[in-house]
Amino acid sequence: MAEHSALLKVEDLSRVFTVRRGLSSVRQAAVDHVNLTLPADRNEILTLAGESGSGKTTLARMILGMQQPSSGRLHFKDRDVTRLSGSERAWFRKQVQPVFQDPFATFSPLKRVDSYLYETVANYHVAPRRQADEPVARALEAVGLSFREVRGRYPNELSGGQLQRVSIARALITDPALLIADEPVSMLDASLRMSVVNLFRELKSRQSVVYITHDLATAYYASDRVAVMLRGWIVELGPVEEVLGAPKHPYTQLLKASVLEPDPRQQGAAERVTLSAFDTESFARTGCRFADRCAMVMDRCRTIEPPDVPVGDVAVKCHLYVDGEQPQLQAAATTRSSSSGA
Ligand SMILES: Nc1ncnc2c1ncn2[C@@H]1O[C@H](COP(=O)(O)OP(=O)(O)O)[C@@H](O)[C@H]1O
Ligand SMILES: [Mg+2]
Repeated sequence: MAEHSALLKVEDLSRVFTVRRGLSSVRQAAVDHVNLTLPADRNEILTLAGESGSGKTTLARMILGMQQPSSGRLHFKDRDVTRLSGSERAWFRKQVQPVFQDPFATFSPLKRVDSYLYETVANYHVAPRRQADEPVARALEAVGLSFREVRGRYPNELSGGQLQRVSIARALITDPALLIADEPVSMLDASLRMSVVNLFRELKSRQSVVYITHDLATAYYASDRVAVMLRGWIVELGPVEEVLGAPKHPYTQLLKASVLEPDPRQQGAAERVTLSAFDTESFARTGCRFADRCAMVMDRCRTIEPPDVPVGDVAVKCHLYVDGEQPQLQAAATTRSSSSGA
């Protein structure tokens, strides 16, 4: 039995930024009353998916303790992440480790890549200097690299895929309980992405992962559960086979349809889901933030914020599901030929 009620508990969490627009400024909730729990009794890969500007990185930075929430609660193993004492902070930083996006930016071209691993061993007091080889070799092995391959090498001597594995190995040095990987494969060639994503699945025997991506194909492959973000909200959260297999929220349906669109003449669907980072109007509006783009929009969507509605194992933030009915799904948005009604 786990000794904690949850590994991670995010409750009603918000982060508001003030953004200048010409002479005035607007307040914008990059993360807006988000709820999310990772279980204590099993490891899980939870994907945060959503278009650029939806708040994924802001949420990740709050979970990592790198950004203070504006309001709400954030607990890791029952400890308040926003109020850690000095010794708790040292513990927390070992327990929750980031994996960053760009391996080429992470490593200086003038520094041997293994030096990052040795520095992490020293900074976190994982082992005394003379015994540092052991945790370094163990972490490299966990990501499918050998000590021999990496030792003494400079970044230009390794491939992008190998470098990203080294950067994941660095995150593993402290044997964390949770990895926060923000777009970890977006800088890699498509051919390498799946092998790195697959690595997260292997790591699941030891740690949980919050995997952040705008790429639904890797999300489908990597995740146990998916949270779909839209302009600061989580609009759909549940098991991957439900959320991406049979999406309920019209936004998730649109995302999926735009990825899987087989007809190049229909590529407009992909364009419709892009959002400029300074599109602040839809953050400020009352009602649903997807109303303007939603094919199923109703009157109340423009004035009343939708509640989180439980539909089976999935939570959907959408008025369509409020009355406990399964609405007629848009034929164009679902690629399934039949619906199970489950
Ligand atoms: N430091 C900041 N100051 C002002 N606005 C910010 C800041 N960081 C993020 N934002 C805004 O918050 C929103 C969400 O950004 P972000 O969390 O980076 O989204 P994502 O990672 O999903 O692309 C965007 O509109 C972005 O412009
Ligand atoms: Mg981001």
